Amino acid sequence: MKARFLSLGRQPLANGFLANITEAKDEFFYDMNVVYDNETHLVSLENFVRPELMFNEHYAYHGSMSQTMQDHFKELAAKINKEINPSLVLEIGSNDGVFIKNFTKKQAIAVEPCSNFAAITNKLGYETYDEFWSMKLAKQIELEYHSKVDFIFAANCMCHIPDIEDAFKAVAHLLDETKGVFCFEDPSLLEMLIRGSYDQIYDEHAHIFSITALNKLLKNVGLEIFDVEQLSVHGGSNRIWTQPITGKYLIKPTVEAALLFEKVSGLTNFSTYVNFAKRVQNSGTELFSMLREIKKTGKKVICYGAASKTTTIFNYCNIGPDLIEYMVDTTPSKVGKLSPGKHIPIVHPKDGFDTSVKFAFLGAWNFAAEICDKEKLWLAQGGKFITHVPNVRIL
Ligand code: TYD
Repeated sequence: MKARFLSLGRQPLANGFLANITEAKDEFFYDMNVVYDNETHLVSLENFVRPELMFNEHYAYHGSMSQTMQDHFKELAAKINKEINPSLVLEIGSNDGVFIKNFTKKQAIAVEPCSNFAAITNKLGYETYDEFWSMKLAKQIELEYHSKVDFIFAANCMCHIPDIEDAFKAVAHLLDETKGVFCFEDPSLLEMLIRGSYDQIYDEHAHIFSITALNKLLKNVGLEIFDVEQLSVHGGSNRIWTQPITGKYLIKPTVEAALLFEKVSGLTNFSTYVNFAKRVQNSGTELFSMLREIKKTGKKVICYGAASKTTTIFNYCNIGPDLIEYMVDTTPSKVGKLSPGKHIPIVHPKDGFDTSVKFAFLGAWNFAAEICDKEKLWLAQGGKFITHVPNVRIL
């Protein structure tokens, strides 16, 4: 049975940037509530937003925009080639090719329903299926390649899929029964609870996965987890390594350890989620008050990084252009637009990040190290970052 523990109010699409204010009259909003399923332990949105509304030719998130992510996938691809040496790699949700471009064109297949990104990997020469992941597509690929696939990868994509059981079934269908490996990474529920990073919750994140829930869901489709890695990317993620139960890899102690740690951390108790909801409410109130106090002093406050996560925060806390003058972001498809719901203008850092800015809310707090390094001169000149993780404060 599913029980609601958190309501984050009326929310727009997290990546639904507006080209101009006239688009506001047709802006889509929904009630964003979060539920816990006490049978599977899965945390999900109560009402899923239709995937076609979010993942289409206008999708704004570019994985390659961050050096951290480029390095992250390069390193992983080297490990896969060295330790697994797959003959065929399929990536579900290949975005702008940030992972797949580390493999040869003959060795890799991309699946990407956002046509703007599918066109990029296609142009690079990778076979790209411009479609949502499904059993139908898995069967089509099997027919076209006359074989099963020995390595399937997905980064920040499986948690986007409302019917996750069906998506895992399709993976299990296409995976080679003896040497097949399915590896995927997504934000970690445990890390979200520890950091109080409720901004991980937005339309695209249909679920926030725990290892506990994944273990159950994967078992149901004949897959077993044989290794778990904790990653620092995206504010704390898990990389899950799985195989068919007939697979050849030994199950590492990391799996049992992760399950145990989640249990002792309370991830299977509803009260943990109720306490998290209280923390979210306090965090929201504190952030709003801090920004209002700074505003009274007349100092310029902006937001650094128009991350999807900021949509949740600004709409939940009712933070608009009166408190945050503008946002800076390097992503070409975001520059010149207005933020979803609150309509805060977005400019390129070269046009808006200078010493006139006294405070910058770290919208992309998950890239704090990369950003602080990049902006060390601004920091040295007295600029200050504000964050809400793990609690609201000036850094
Ligand atoms: P990110 O945290 O990757 O994702 P999400 O949208 O899933 O919350 O988004 C970070 C945003 O910050 C993205 O729009 C790119 C931007 N950004 C910059 O503008 N400059 C930077 O130096 C970095 C690291 C990110």
